[in-house]
Amino acid sequence: MKSNQPIGIFDSGIGGLTVAKAVKKILPQESVIYFGDTAHLPYGDKSTAAIQAYSVRIAEMLLKHRCKVILIACNSASSAAYELVTEYVGKRAKVFDVINPTVDFIRENHHNDIVGLIGTKQTVSAGVYAKKIAELDQNIDFKALATPLLVPMIEEGIYEDEISKNIISKYLNDSVLVGIKSLILGCTHYPIIQKEIKDYYNDLNEAVEIIDSADTVAKALRSFLEYNQLCNRSEVTDDKFYVSDFTDSFERTTKTFFGEKVHLEQIPIWDELT
Ligand code: DGL
Repeated sequence: MKSNQPIGIFDSGIGGLTVAKAVKKILPQESVIYFGDTAHLPYGDKSTAAIQAYSVRIAEMLLKHRCKVILIACNSASSAAYELVTEYVGKRAKVFDVINPTVDFIRENHHNDIVGLIGTKQTVSAGVYAKKIAELDQNIDFKALATPLLVPMIEEGIYEDEISKNIISKYLNDSVLVGIKSLILGCTHYPIIQKEIKDYYNDLNEAVEIIDSADTVAKALRSFLEYNQLCNRSEVTDDKFYVSDFTDSFERTTKTFFGEKVHLEQIPIWDELT
């Protein structure tokens, strides 16, 4: 691994852009290569085996682009494939997921708390958060709810309107989440609707802390780079954004997050798989 190599980040679609943005904010000297696997979105409804196959394939593509770090900016892929990707990549790059830094954050800030999580079906049924939080042994009451309509809704650009407000209320009103004091946004798409989630609790006058792991993950990455003297000191090259299937919403959101001069390319890395 060399300091002038880029950071590879992937997700099923636009969700991981929330993490990429947090990374660029605190590590502006790093170049990012982003891959959104829009051809297979949503990951949350796919089998573990399918998500593992996609993730390994994307890791290989990011290694070909000489990435020093592969950041799995997707909770569903982190749940299903973090160990496998780490093993596959070996010493060629450092692999980060979004779950471990979030659990570290919970360990430091939320003992004796009632913590809720919303995420995809994959993230909730895999139970990785539940297991890791139980292992902290910090008297945390953990409650998780699958909210599968949220990713397609966000990918379709439906947010900050009546439809999204109703869907979000329906989920947050679920009896599973009654009494929570903090809520993990267990899907990297959800920071995009963070304001609406906050508004829901504000309207009810309930103090629920919203935990968006993007900043926590970015800080964990910065600590790793600093500790291992892997921070880029050469000239920054342009960030690159790739998708497996071109979508308008991906282009729109990428430009909203990173400005008009974003270069978006579709790469057919799925030929043998699809
Ligand atoms: N953003 C992803 C996650 O964090 C993926 C959602 C999906 O594709 O279903 O889980």
